[in-house]
Amino acid sequence: MNDSIHKGRESATAFAPASVGNVAVGFDVLGLSVQAIGDRVTARRTTERGVRITAITGTVVDLPLEADRNTAGRAVISIIEEQAPDFGIELTIEKGIPLGSGLGGSAASAVAAVVAANALLPTSLSQLALLKHAMHGEAVASGSVHVDNIAPSLFGGLVLTVGVDNPNVKQIPMPPGVHCVLVHPHMVLATKEARKILKPDVSLSDVIWQTANLAGFLAGCFTNDLRLIGESLNDVIIEPQRRVLIPGFDAVKHAAMSGGALGCSISGAGPTVFAWVPTEQSAQVRDGMVAAFNAAGLQCDAWISTLEAHGAHVIA
Ligand code: HSE
Repeated sequence: MNDSIHKGRESATAFAPASVGNVAVGFDVLGLSVQAIGDRVTARRTTERGVRITAITGTVVDLPLEADRNTAGRAVISIIEEQAPDFGIELTIEKGIPLGSGLGGSAASAVAAVVAANALLPTSLSQLALLKHAMHGEAVASGSVHVDNIAPSLFGGLVLTVGVDNPNVKQIPMPPGVHCVLVHPHMVLATKEARKILKPDVSLSDVIWQTANLAGFLAGCFTNDLRLIGESLNDVIIEPQRRVLIPGFDAVKHAAMSGGALGCSISGAGPTVFAWVPTEQSAQVRDGMVAAFNAAGLQCDAWISTLEAHGAHVIA
């Protein structure tokens, strides 16, 4: 994002991509942006102070219009409270990401909102400052502060975030020749509900296993080691608890893995399921995953996404 050409505008529209939270092995700390879909937010200067949401259109429309109950609105209130500009901000939100899909919809709205609002400010904020403001928005929707959707939606690519109050954000290189297949069954799964069922305690052996998997996955990404990625992209803590929330999950995962996927798991809190797949096998894996969901009685949308590091940006 080139901030200098965007600052101080009367209005701006930003696009923020969807994202795969957790990426199987990094619960709440690892996420991947997905360009295929995303949310758009337009911010306009107003003489009236404060933040107003004038319209919500697209895939989800029954979201709160009250700014402090809306992820996009709350994130921009956070900017206004800190920056105290001599104008107010009006937002229109165009949702491209389905509600409760596990594709980071609430995060994308918050991220697009802060990127658009930032373009109106006389002095642009840093990406890290925008991340913190967007986190305030995400907390409204999910009831917890996690950055694994916000950070990749804002920065782009495979993103590791260490720390919450003072987050360190690292974009992790991704291997060439691999695509991300995403299959979204037509059902809604609220993040709050999917978090509520998680046990507070984890066995030491599972911690060791998952730690090795996260380290192995990241090492595999840094060294283009597809064999190591394939061995490590395996969630032994969260997926076994959440799989029951997604009808047909085991069959969908089996279809992906038997079709040649390196790994397959739940995208964020679900119900979308993602798989990292060598490019040549990705269409076959997608078809197998869709067929398995269909067999469980669920219609789906499916995407094959390149692994690209494009984050949110001003588009108009
Ligand atoms: N890390 C969060 C979770 C992502 O899995 O609950 C929610 O999109």
